[in-house]
Amino acid sequence: MNAGIIGLGTYAPEHILTNEDLEKRMDTSDEWIRTMTGIEERRIADSEENTSHMAVKAAKEAIKDAGITADQIGLIIVATVTPDRPFPSVSTMLQEQLGATNAAAMDLSAACAGFIYGIVTAKQFVESNTYSHVLVVGVEKLSKITNWEDRNTAVLFGDGAGAAIIGKVSEGRGILSFELGADGSGGKHLSQEGPHLQMNGREVFKFAVRQMGESAVNVIEKAGLNKEEIDMLIPHQANIRIMESSRERLGLPIEKMSKTIHKYGNTSSASIPLSLDEEVRNGKVKDDDVIVMVGFGGGLTWGAIALKW
Ligand code: ACO
Repeated sequence: MNAGIIGLGTYAPEHILTNEDLEKRMDTSDEWIRTMTGIEERRIADSEENTSHMAVKAAKEAIKDAGITADQIGLIIVATVTPDRPFPSVSTMLQEQLGATNAAAMDLSAACAGFIYGIVTAKQFVESNTYSHVLVVGVEKLSKITNWEDRNTAVLFGDGAGAAIIGKVSEGRGILSFELGADGSGGKHLSQEGPHLQMNGREVFKFAVRQMGESAVNVIEKAGLNKEEIDMLIPHQANIRIMESSRERLGLPIEKMSKTIHKYGNTSSASIPLSLDEEVRNGKVKDDDVIVMVGFGGGLTWGAIALKW
């Protein structure tokens, strides 16, 4: 039996910050942001709303969607680089608030590749029959580490959460292959220094273009599939130009790439589940479709999964 995604849930804060709003706060323009990144607006959590609050909302939806109860969860993995505080972990806060009385809990730090790392970790526990269900949440409140004085980074990020329940699915479906990787020598290009995120955009861009395409191709080959068999590419939503380059590398038509960056910006570990959930709900990802999820981020880290829905 394979492990697969049997439930999904998301949460995005209500408050919308548009490019026009940013024009009033810093020396930037809607035109620059749209052309250079594909972002039109992003969601920003208010001061009362912390990472754990967003995570709980997405997790509750995913549990309901999977048709299980919280006590069936054996492990909670929260992928985040913006926890409420270093400890206790966001995952233990979820454990309590969901009433997941039988769950172990840990946070995972792999930046924007965090959701992929989480799903792959969950797969090991499910396929080894250790736990029947694992909850994986990708959640970020990036607005709290954003330097609102730095136009190079402030325009890029947003807040949000996405959650998945990993459980057993029938033979031939679920996670077909995966790839995880890291290159700590590039850590200096994207990090939190003091209170703020800092980034060498050019270097991250070059790395992302190379890695996203390569990892997507690798998981397809590992799964014994052809590029033509991909029904939907779900790339980490960091920059439309990076996403487009991986789509082109796979030779996919535009309608086979998920795009939610225009309304959420880069939500780091939440971006892939936010996109996947949208494609499933609008019927673009259907039973037996082959999807490729691919992410990269600070670390540097990367990860990809080929999955039959
Ligand atoms: N508004 C207007 N002008 C701007 C802005 C802005 N918000 N930001 C930068 N500029 C200017 C720069 O000052 C520069 O001007 P200059 O030529 O007069 O010096 C010009 O635009 C070009 O800037 P570059 O940084 O060289 O532009 P680049 O083509 O590299 O695009 C970008 C910048 C969009 C940030 C790009 O590098 C990128 O997307 N990189 C990847 C970032 C990324 O994905 N990070 C997230 C990783 S995931 C994670 O773990 C969080």
